[in-house]
Amino acid sequence: MKFFIDTANVDEIRAAHDMGLVDGVTTNPSLVAKTGRNFHEVLTEIAALVDGPISAEVVALDTEGMLAEARELIKLHPKNIVIKVPMTPAGLKATRQLADEGIPVNMTLAFSPLQALLAAKAGAAYISPFVGRLDDVGHLGMEGVEQIRTIFDNYGFTTEIIVASVRSPLHVLNAALIGADICTIPYGVLLQLAKHPLTDTGIERFLADWQKSQV
Ligand code: G3P
Repeated sequence: MKFFIDTANVDEIRAAHDMGLVDGVTTNPSLVAKTGRNFHEVLTEIAALVDGPISAEVVALDTEGMLAEARELIKLHPKNIVIKVPMTPAGLKATRQLADEGIPVNMTLAFSPLQALLAAKAGAAYISPFVGRLDDVGHLGMEGVEQIRTIFDNYGFTTEIIVASVRSPLHVLNAALIGADICTIPYGVLLQLAKHPLTDTGIERFLADWQKSQV
């Protein structure tokens, strides 16, 4: 499973990248707003750091507006920028057009397996089911991911599943068990994945025993 990092914070991306854990990056307007920095400036900096897919989201709600934004965003790094488009009829139309032009699209704000099926048929390179936000309203987010995996496998769709809105290590574990292509993980959750109390106590014990051998 590929690991994307779900942040627009360049320091976090650098730290995760240095641990070899960044196959790509996903951003959204809220994540960029948290940095307090200019959208294009942040994306350019990320693209200089990471050689992998970097999702940049459009904010227009109509197809023409989405396409116009996409054509500007792709210029920031033609090889690695992926256009993030919302799951709406206008977004599906923009996705079909961009896919026909060879521009990869990540359809975002997907909450059902049927939305994922539409994204695949529209030619999206990626679909982002938001598992945490579904959990928030009492639905099992990961159940939807399981269904998307089945549907894509049934018909041989090559659209990659990005498990998004990840809130805990369990989301990452289940994404890997289901066979999601990608999990996009906030930096804090990434650090949690490395953590285990038995690792900490094991280190303490080895250090204490090593001291005993320094006679
Ligand atoms: O990848 C999508 C993500 O950024 C949304 O996460 O926590 O706002 O639901 P969250």
